[in-house]
Amino acid sequence: MTEILVTGGLGYIGSHCCVALMEAGYTPVVVDNLSNSSPTTLDRMQQISGVRPKFHKADVRDGGALDRIFAKHRFAAVIHFGALKAVGESVAKPLDYYDNNVGGTLTLIGAMLRAGLKKMIFSSSATVYGQAATVPIREDFPRSATNPYGRSKLIAEDILEDLSLADGGWRIARLRYFNPVGAHESGLIGENPKGVPNNLLPFICDVAAAHRDHLAIFGGDYSTPDGTGIRDYIHVMDLVEGHLAALRFLNERPGLLTVNLGTGKGISVLEMVRTFERVTGCDIPYRVTGRRPGDVGECWADPTLAHHILGWRAHRTLDDICLDAWRWRSLESTSFL
Ligand code: NAD
Ligand code: UD1
Repeated sequence: MTEILVTGGLGYIGSHCCVALMEAGYTPVVVDNLSNSSPTTLDRMQQISGVRPKFHKADVRDGGALDRIFAKHRFAAVIHFGALKAVGESVAKPLDYYDNNVGGTLTLIGAMLRAGLKKMIFSSSATVYGQAATVPIREDFPRSATNPYGRSKLIAEDILEDLSLADGGWRIARLRYFNPVGAHESGLIGENPKGVPNNLLPFICDVAAAHRDHLAIFGGDYSTPDGTGIRDYIHVMDLVEGHLAALRFLNERPGLLTVNLGTGKGISVLEMVRTFERVTGCDIPYRVTGRRPGDVGECWADPTLAHHILGWRAHRTLDDICLDAWRWRSLESTSFL
């Protein structure tokens, strides 16, 4: 029984990761403060895996609570998803973002040191590349931040780098996610944004479910083949499988690993809309409007390093992504909540 501490394990990516960990024979132990999740996700994870993950309601900024949790378990590693992630909110409430995302990471590292554990996988983001000059984006591209959320990830990345330089016993993976989308193929867990979705695919699902009458496409004048923005959409199950590969890697080798988790394929907004319509049979009315401030035209990964080092690559298709997102959305609105 290899126990893995999963902070933010009831959130979108964390819950999928726990399912993948259980399938791979690990025992995930979730720490989550429920600020953006619900304990009903534990029921769904149990339905999928047949096992209910252990859960501690706690905040990663609470060192005392973490010490008590570490005393109850023998963790082999920590996967640290627990963070705030809304770009707009981070501009309005920067201190919350530094407190949660930087302070939370520091407190967690402190508790790990007291417990003698030096293995961590950290959720970073393609946002650390800021406005990259060219695509595809490689790990050695310059980093920058355009908002407090992005800066909180940059700072946390730097802290982890300094830590690994100061103490060669640490094993740390900084995984830079591109655009995680889709849901577990069971349709039992998925992304559940509160209020109006900021991200493309949840918004498309809202339109398909007739909760909104049309999609606003933010910009039709980018220098891309169809004029709409291009991103690297990665199925959340492919993404979490990258974490399992990183865990295996860290078991073999100490040091600091920094890799992109993306597909290496850029998809435009219109391609996403058309694929969703084709595979689900739903109509997605849209209007092309002005660009969203801060958006880049193209952002997609060079995932070569992850393939070379981890032997990992994304293999699910855009059809899978749309079908799984829609299955989750349809089941969630009819049978569960
Ligand atoms: P999410 O909001 O669905 O999940 C985060 C979870 O962490 C939630 O369950 C929340 O309740 C919990 N949490 C937040 N602050 C906490 C704290 N202080 N203590 C304990 N629990 C806390 O987000 P997600 O999409 O699953 O993202 C997971 C991680 O991946 C985050 O670090 C995020 O920044 C990063 N990331 C996400 C994306 C994305 O598009 N979803 C892209 C790049 C990076
Ligand atoms: C967002 C986040 C970014 C995060 C990334 C991955 C913002 C400003 N940025 O960026 O920090 O790392 O997700 O989760 O929130 N689009 C529309 N209409 C919509 C929504 C989106 O046309 O209603 C377009 C966007 O202009 C973009 C594409 O769809 O071209 C994807 O948008 P989105 O899902 O928000 O992802 P990112 O822009 O990559």
